[in-house]
Amino acid sequence: MQMLISPSNRSNIDSFIAMDVVAKATQLSAQGRDIISMAVGQPGAPAPKCALEAAVLQIQSGSVGYTGAPGIDRLRNRIAEHYKIKYDVEVDPQRVFATTGSSAGFVLAFLSMFDAGSRIAIPSPGYPAYRNIIKALSMNPVEIQTTPESRWTLTAGLLEDAHRSEKLDGVLFANPNNPNGTMLERGEFVKLMEMSSNLGIRFISDEIYHGLTYTMDETCALEFSDDVTIINSFSKYYCMTGWRIGWMIVPECLIRTIDRLQQNLFICAPEISQVVALAAFDGQQEMEAVRQNYETNRALFLDRLPKLSLTNIQPIDGAFYAYADISPLSANSMQLANEILDQTGVAVTPGLDFDLLRGGSWMRFSFAGNYQRMVEGFDRMDHWLSRR
Ligand SMILES: Cc1ncc(COP(=O)(O)O)c(C=O)c1O
Repeated sequence: MQMLISPSNRSNIDSFIAMDVVAKATQLSAQGRDIISMAVGQPGAPAPKCALEAAVLQIQSGSVGYTGAPGIDRLRNRIAEHYKIKYDVEVDPQRVFATTGSSAGFVLAFLSMFDAGSRIAIPSPGYPAYRNIIKALSMNPVEIQTTPESRWTLTAGLLEDAHRSEKLDGVLFANPNNPNGTMLERGEFVKLMEMSSNLGIRFISDEIYHGLTYTMDETCALEFSDDVTIINSFSKYYCMTGWRIGWMIVPECLIRTIDRLQQNLFICAPEISQVVALAAFDGQQEMEAVRQNYETNRALFLDRLPKLSLTNIQPIDGAFYAYADISPLSANSMQLANEILDQTGVAVTPGLDFDLLRGGSWMRFSFAGNYQRMVEGFDRMDHWLSRR
């Protein structure tokens, strides 16, 4: 019989290198190596206790089923309340959708607002899945190179230049950003939103690292407009990566559209994860303690990276990453990451994941893990470098 199946063109996207590094680290670990991970953006801490207790109760109830496509009302109401408490913004709970992580939120946002061929701006360096999801949906990612002059973040000026060069339909922006943790301060954020609105570019704000900031307060796009789409998640601040639960706040005109897309694509976010997420809002104290640990880890990284000759680090305003220029050590971040993993057992992520043009000379180090393990990781890298 003739072989008919082959991969589609649209599925021909790059792999997520960080996940490839994790796969290799897991393999080495299974062979008995002691691996320290500075590779993934994953909190070392579990979800707050009250959330885990809610999970147990839900399982014991014996009922874990489908929910309505937008999610359970109690969670949607609580998320709306969160916006009132944290940002003093009124949100109609009807505009809130529980999603299967923010990752599903991107798919829903892109499909609901853009047609095939649309041009969506994203920052580079930036979260690699943006580029790859946009491509897989037959849309075009437009990577805007941020620079030291723009303080490594997207600005109104950079967005305007890109749009003048070729019309943009949308922009997706994370503040704090991954891989660098860099933030746009409030006034500049408003300028970016205004520019986007004036040029007719639809604004998507990825606020997944809200709650994890060190040098300035976070800005929520809803403070300035309801004509934006917000994507957020319980993965980072709430330490719930594996529960695959996030949320969106959408403009009123998209409510029914997102509802239909969610019904058909995902049915709903997992019920148990929705219940756990609702309870997580009561775990504030625990999550604040975790945030304090990140702050200590951040200080450790700012102290120890320069001792590895890595002095050029993009501003770590938030999140839990240090994005460092590795030129003093190598011009090939992929090779260096492999060498570090093989020689020291420390997993780090090559910048090529985040910046196709310049990422060969940058590396992302995640400080989301345990402090003592991070210290040991640096000791190992110091020792290896001194003999290299
Ligand atoms: C900026 C950013 N957005 C979204 C995600 C995806 O998170 P999740 O799907 O777990 O909510 C990540 C994960 O690292 C991220 O860094």
